[in-house]
Amino acid sequence: MQVIGLLGGTGDLGRGLSVHLVNSYEKVMIGSRSKGKAVSAVQEILADKPDMKDLLSKRLVGVDNSEVASSSDIVVATLPFEATIDTIKQLKESFRGNQLFISAAASLEKKDHEFLSAKGPSVAQEIRALLTDSIEVAAAFQTVPAPLLYKNSSVDADVFVACDKKSTFEACSEVVRSIRNLRPLYVGSLQVASEVEGLTTILLNVAIKNHLRNPAFKIIAEPTAGSPVKS
Ligand SMILES: NC(=O)c1ccc[n+]([C@@H]2O[C@H](COP(=O)([O-])OP(=O)(O)OC[C@H]3O[C@@H](n4cnc5c(N)ncnc54)[C@H](OP(=O)(O)O)[C@@H]3O)[C@@H](O)[C@H]2O)c1
Repeated sequence: MQVIGLLGGTGDLGRGLSVHLVNSYEKVMIGSRSKGKAVSAVQEILADKPDMKDLLSKRLVGVDNSEVASSSDIVVATLPFEATIDTIKQLKESFRGNQLFISAAASLEKKDHEFLSAKGPSVAQEIRALLTDSIEVAAAFQTVPAPLLYKNSSVDADVFVACDKKSTFEACSEVVRSIRNLRPLYVGSLQVASEVEGLTTILLNVAIKNHLRNPAFKIIAEPTAGSPVKS
């Protein structure tokens, strides 16, 4: 079993992912700029989830972000969009290599009571350019609402995955499938990551303009022969 770590894991998405990942990974590290804050986040999660106390006590730990970078087989960046690149630059020397790096950063700008996606290269492409080639990079989880993850034992939604290699998609799919009912869907190379990072704006605008809580995507389609997608 592998070790998975969440950069900026003290936030809503990190907490939401962590309570599922403990089912499949022997160690789940909640990372923070402050180890004390990460340890407190773990205590809060334990208090919120008494039914999972044994598993969480055994597998969930609070660490600083540099330990996530150096000790994880799989790193998931659950950092604000605008802080992700600076954080990776600061941690660059800590990554041990031969890792899977999943960026969940969603590009968001609020203007005149609406959400818009930021223009320019995707965060995932910028991360690809910063990290050594032995680290596989994918964009995923942008459209999975953290509150749904945190409160439910399964989430029936699709996760769009952008990455450059089939092996990266397969590795990322394993992480996605470790959360019950989430379905990974391959959307293309990292060139498509900016489209994926922008999808969160659609969900947030749908939520505020239609009085809906925690919307997510679920693609309706008929499989074709040889479809790689498992529903
Ligand atoms: N929330 C959702 O439902 C959701 C769903 C899908 C995708 N996303 C995307 O996932 C990412 C994380 O979302 P979130 O809601 O969990 O974010 P968040 O709660 O705002 O932030 C996550 C963590 O990032 C760290 N952080 C904040 N500012 C930072 C800075 N300037 N430099 C370095 N670290 C900083 C904080 O951890 P420490 O203070 O402990 O270091 C914070 O707890 C975002 O890009 C978001 O768009 C969110």
